Amino acid sequence: MQRNLLITGGAGFIGSHVVRRFVNKYPQYRIINLDALTYAGNLENLRDIENAPNYTFVKADICDAEAVAKVIKEHGIDGIIHLAAESHVDRSITDPLSFVRTNVFGTVTLLNAAKEAWKSAMEGKRFYHVSTDEVYGSLHDDSLFLETTPYDPQSPYSASKAASDHFVRAYGNTYKLPFVVSNCSNNYGSHHFPEKLIPLMINNLRNSKPLPVYGKGENVRDWLWVEDHASAIDTIFHNGKNGETYNIGGHNEWKNIDLVHLLCSIMDKKLGRAAGESAKLITYVTDRAGHDLRYAIDAGKIERELGWKPSITFEVGLERTVDWYLANTEWLEHLTTGAYQQYYKEHYAQR
Ligand code: NAD
Ligand code: TYD
Repeated sequence: MQRNLLITGGAGFIGSHVVRRFVNKYPQYRIINLDALTYAGNLENLRDIENAPNYTFVKADICDAEAVAKVIKEHGIDGIIHLAAESHVDRSITDPLSFVRTNVFGTVTLLNAAKEAWKSAMEGKRFYHVSTDEVYGSLHDDSLFLETTPYDPQSPYSASKAASDHFVRAYGNTYKLPFVVSNCSNNYGSHHFPEKLIPLMINNLRNSKPLPVYGKGENVRDWLWVEDHASAIDTIFHNGKNGETYNIGGHNEWKNIDLVHLLCSIMDKKLGRAAGESAKLITYVTDRAGHDLRYAIDAGKIERELGWKPSITFEVGLERTVDWYLANTEWLEHLTTGAYQQYYKEHYAQR
């Protein structure tokens, strides 16, 4: 079957894995990647598929109603996978309004455009909203987040994602927009911007810089390999039921400090350092304001109903991830020097 899919945020971490998967796996689909190329968007993430005949990149902001409507019309879009977002909790603490702008206003702008474009024939259309487990809040016992867990967001980031989830469901209820939502746990893998825990630690380990652990390092996150998230998105997009929510997770909880120690021991081996040398870089720093204690997903529904589960263990995924960063130091250098932002400025200024 032929489809024209709009993927938003496809130049970011998870979006680039989703775009790559769809471009390679579905040559009969036309994949349109719409991304504003903020600091987190990097077209180098998609070098390997940028010339594929079924792939088009459009630089646009999801808050720009005219631009979004034009793309949907011009390309006859019949499915949307929406990943574009401001995604870093620490940034949301210093600048909450940019999260409201992109995550709430931007999502509603996209919903409006889809509703308008599809109003005469909703059949066969699909708006897939990619969200986070952080909307459920912070766990203080040994329970797990279910799809029915009440929303209780605690950071400006998770509050903005929760608001966007509510708008998607409201458009489904009010305008009968066909939608699915998924809420996923923390992702790790290649092409992850080095301001998030795992790539930041790998980069600092590589450069023998301090490893900043917030508070006592006792916060717990449930880690999933990014390519497994992309495969879950593929499964839900094609087989999920309209109006449903699916939690996605790796059944893989780690205390931050244990995870940092594991990374240190992997890096000792990879870099030929004496055992225990990297761990000396661990530095406890002031805790994040309102730091959520624990996230953990019950991913039973997607396994039971759609047959999806993670394909690799954390140990395998983490080693692959470390290998990727060590083999792609140029990618890291470009991001950390801001060279790629300069390239965009020059490149797009000429158009
Ligand atoms: P990211 O920050 O790496 O990428 C976000 C992308 O969106 C970037 O390419 C950026 O340029 C683009 N973007 C930002 N604002 C935009 C705008 N106004 N218009 C158009 N494009 C814009 O984020 P990520 O980690 O890849 O996350 C992608 C999605 O998955 C987000 O919706 C996030 O909430 C969700 N999510 C992330 C995780 C995780 O662990 N990273 C876990 C669960 C869910
Ligand atoms: P992060 O990667 O920012 O993801 P999120 O906050 O969305 O879960 O952080 C993961 C965990 O690691 C979180 O508990 C905060 C902690 N953390 C540190 O201890 N040090 C750091 O430098 C960063 C970026 C995060």
